[in-house]
Amino acid sequence: MKFFIDTANLNQIREAMDLGILDGVTTNPSLMAKEGIRGEENVKKHYIDICNIVDGDVSAEVISTDFEGIIREGKILADLHPQIVVKVPMIREGVKAIRHLTQEGIRTNCTLVFSAGQAILAAKAGATYVSPFMGRLDDISTDGVELIAQIVDIYRYYEFDTQVLAASIRHTMHIIQCAEVGADVVTCPLQPILGLLRHPLTDSGLEKFLADHNKK
Ligand code: E4P
Repeated sequence: MKFFIDTANLNQIREAMDLGILDGVTTNPSLMAKEGIRGEENVKKHYIDICNIVDGDVSAEVISTDFEGIIREGKILADLHPQIVVKVPMIREGVKAIRHLTQEGIRTNCTLVFSAGQAILAAKAGATYVSPFMGRLDDISTDGVELIAQIVDIYRYYEFDTQVLAASIRHTMHIIQCAEVGADVVTCPLQPILGLLRHPLTDSGLEKFLADHNKK
């Protein structure tokens, strides 16, 4: 399972890279705004900065919602850097655009996916990644991991190439649940990734080993 970090914060991206487990980055317009990145040129520069930090794929989201606009924006984003994957919303025009961009050899990440039906459409359109939002489903009393498992099963059954990128991850258990059901990728903030490290028995065990080693 690949680990992507879900942020536009360069320091957090560097910290995850430094840990040696980072496979890519996802961003969205809200995450870019949170870092104060505004204006077309600043946004483009920021994507290039992110690509220069990580080795893997970097999802950059379009803000257009019409077919022509998504294609135009998608091509501009894809031209920025070979690591860029164009993130397109799961709407009617988005599905058409994913098909078109795929035919032009541009990789896509179909975002804002909340049902198996939407995931089937994304795969049929040729999306490189599909992003079902676990946390936002959990927020409305719907089991997010159940959707991840359902999509993984459908994609395996039909041998779709589209990778299941579990998004809207809120905590470490989400990551573990995604691993249990076979998600291809999880994208999450830095804290849940670091949370995987922690166990009190590791800390107390290490403390004892070091204390015993230092006994005279
Ligand atoms: C990533 O692709 C999504 O944009 C992101 O995971 C959404 O997460 P949120 O529900 O915490 O905003």
